Amino acid sequence: MRDLEGKVAFVTGAASGIGLGIARALAHAGVKVMLCDIEEQALETARAGLAAGNADVAAVRADVSLRAELEAAARATIERFGKVHILVNNAGVGGGGDYGSWTQAGWEWTLGVNLWSVIWGIEIFGPLIEAHGEGGQIVSTASIAGLAGGVNPSYNVTKYGVVALSEGLRPTLAEKGIGVSVLCPGLIRTRIMDSTRNLPERFGQVEAMTEGAADNAAIEMIRAGVAMGIDPDYVGELVREGIEEDWAYILTDTDFEPAIDERFANIKAHFDKIRGRVPPRGAG
Ligand SMILES: NC(=O)c1ccc[n+]([C@@H]2O[C@H](COP(=O)([O-])OP(=O)(O)OC[C@H]3O[C@@H](n4cnc5c(N)ncnc54)[C@H](O)[C@@H]3O)[C@@H](O)[C@H]2O)c1
Repeated sequence: MRDLEGKVAFVTGAASGIGLGIARALAHAGVKVMLCDIEEQALETARAGLAAGNADVAAVRADVSLRAELEAAARATIERFGKVHILVNNAGVGGGGDYGSWTQAGWEWTLGVNLWSVIWGIEIFGPLIEAHGEGGQIVSTASIAGLAGGVNPSYNVTKYGVVALSEGLRPTLAEKGIGVSVLCPGLIRTRIMDSTRNLPERFGQVEAMTEGAADNAAIEMIRAGVAMGIDPDYVGELVREGIEEDWAYILTDTDFEPAIDERFANIKAHFDKIRGRVPPRGAG
């Protein structure tokens, strides 16, 4: 999407962190932004801050792990702005816990916010973007943990899902004039390690990413890395650039590139174990 001026974006998880950075960068580029978040006070603070800079923004509270609330937020966006061109599925939680501390509620919370909301976002907003024929862009926030998993596999499951969904939809939606990008941030200075602040009551008590981890030292390294992490406004500007140039992957830094190389080298080494064998195929 080359010309962002006057376009409309819907951004989830827009009250803080990366989502707010994206909303700010889009607003600076002249995009009208509907901010969506579960955290009402932070959402209003974000809306007022952007509006004070003359941005055309509005806010809608929704728990994106509930499809009906996401649908209501989409209706509110169309009512306010008439149409929508850019969907940013960014809301996410560092939930799930590790082996030994898994609970059904923990999985449902993490899958609901990090993956189901992305699936529903595309189902709900895809046809709204198609409807006006002006094209658009869908950006979904995965993580480097969606390209090379490590500790906290339940979180990584959701992020691999977001990567798979984005990669799989890209050719299909390109034919309809809709670009698809997946944002895979490294360590960004946000409140992600404090995700249980937004745990919906219906899930009861669940494990945070930091609890029950098999490798607590690694989790502590992530916590320290996030505290010293990249400025979310920098990530927002990268996302704006990725939308303008229709990048398939929006990466924030090269810190974890060796981990991805290592993963692919490991997969390749396992191809080598069976290379040259002739598997029996076909009817029989
Ligand atoms: N911070 C990092 O280092 C990092 C790295 C890789 C990926 N990510 C991903 O970036 C995205 C944004 O996270 P962040 O780091 O900015 O953290 P953050 O906690 O600062 O922001 C997340 C936002 O999502 C909102 N949210 C949480 N649950 C919600 C729900 N049920 N409905 C609606 N909104 C909800 C929160 O209120 C918050 O405003 C997430 O998808 C996260 O997994 C973050």
